[in-house]
Amino acid sequence: MTTKTMTTEAMVIDGVLLAAGSGTRMRSPVAKVLSPVLGVPLLSYPYRAMAGLGPLLASIHVIVPPGGLPVETVHAGREAPPLQPVIQEKPDGTWGACEALFSSRIFLEGPATHFLVLNGDGPLVETALLDALVALGREYPEALVLTTARLDNPTGYGRILRDSSGKVTGIREENGASSEERALREVNAGIYLIPRTILHEARGKILPDPRKGERYLTDLVARVVSRGGEVRTHEASADSMRGVNTQEELSRVTELLRERINRGHMEQGVTFQDPARTDVGPDVTIGAGTVLLPQSFLEGKTRVGTGCRVGMGVHLIGSEVGDGATIRDYVVATEAVVGPGAVVGPFAHLRPGTRLGREAHLGNFVETKKAVLGAGAKANHLSYLGDVTVGERTNIGAGTITCNYDGYEKFSTTIGADVFVGSDTQLVAPVSVGDGAVIAAGSTVVEDVPPGALYLSRARSEARPEGGTRYRRRREAKKNSSKKELS
Ligand code: UD1
Ligand code: CA
Repeated sequence: MTTKTMTTEAMVIDGVLLAAGSGTRMRSPVAKVLSPVLGVPLLSYPYRAMAGLGPLLASIHVIVPPGGLPVETVHAGREAPPLQPVIQEKPDGTWGACEALFSSRIFLEGPATHFLVLNGDGPLVETALLDALVALGREYPEALVLTTARLDNPTGYGRILRDSSGKVTGIREENGASSEERALREVNAGIYLIPRTILHEARGKILPDPRKGERYLTDLVARVVSRGGEVRTHEASADSMRGVNTQEELSRVTELLRERINRGHMEQGVTFQDPARTDVGPDVTIGAGTVLLPQSFLEGKTRVGTGCRVGMGVHLIGSEVGDGATIRDYVVATEAVVGPGAVVGPFAHLRPGTRLGREAHLGNFVETKKAVLGAGAKANHLSYLGDVTVGERTNIGAGTITCNYDGYEKFSTTIGADVFVGSDTQLVAPVSVGDGAVIAAGSTVVEDVPPGALYLSRARSEARPEGGTRYRRRREAKKNSSKKELS
């Protein structure tokens, strides 16, 4: 068969992610491709790698099992063609997955000349590798392009079979391999660029493997060779192609991704005290000069500014931390915003809708939810602040609680600027406190407090001279008389 170099215009590539396997070796009710890896589903990684190709890919299809998959939880972390699910009615192998494509309109009516097919369980693949595959495809537009790798331990992978001249003749899956074939260390990475013509020609012609009853995409290689077609290979590094079949392999790829992601941040000037014990998700950004202590987990679209300090055991989920802020040990923040120079924790819980202004302070055992604190506002000890806005420089005393719920509905509290809220105050919402007001310690605030007012709500109290001494004397006498009765 002749080869000719295709022009960019002539080559139209669709991405295909294989994600319909049953993943039985994982022994988990969670679909394998949705297993969490640093806070995002496994499938997000090959999807990101594909999305990195930009406009080179016309669309991205994902082959899903009969019950479907919640693909909306899978993100590429940037603008990417949306994942278009195609159902594989019967999970009968990776060729079965390709066949599912044939019955979809995309295949029948779409413009794709080539399909970039990736196992959905290979999270280490990077865009550069796919770029290399596409380049090879441009050079040999009629060839089936395979990615291979050399592994010290090839167990479980399909082995690349070559003839004496080195030409690829097929792929042998582990379970059908002879002992000589098993000794081969060149394996199939599960990353292919396949011309539409080749896929189409093989439609309905790949038979189930007699041992497992599955139809193997890898059998396409021998078929192409036997029909005089062309097969090209691109060799990738072992650490760009590892697949996940077991929980142990999942933890191994997580480790490799952790290393890769953390190394990237270190190259940008972030200090990790222990990168092996710090988890940073793929969509997280961290500014230069920020120091991360061990055992923290930054996930989702968390953004941490420059020159911050993130303590031990901090969990930030989709949160934003401004430049120069300090997050002390054991803080949990979900969809929260921490202003520049703010200080939070230790042991604070910032729930969704929390927004701390510049240099605000939130101390130990403070829980916030939909709480907007102005610049320099402080709540340093033991408080619940929910559905509340707090003005600039206001001080919230220890033990202050916003009573935002009456058992049926939520109500808001508004506290102005420069307010002093004494310790152990309850603010029964809806209620507002004007600028500069002072709330005496122990108050239960049930009505609006005007600006500058002093609010007091206390039962009358008195200190009786010598009353304590008299009380003790009485009690001691009683104690002694009952002892005598017993003896
Ligand atoms: C596959 C390759 C093997 C290669 C290895 C690389 C085949 C037959 N074997 O083996 O040569 O070395 O990947 O990691 O392809 N899937 C479906 N529908 C199915 C079955 C699987 O969509 O019916 C999906 C799975 O969800 C998975 C991918 O295809 O994402 C690969 O399937 P898996 O069963 O993991 O193949 P391996 O045995 O790892
Ligand atoms: Ca696999």
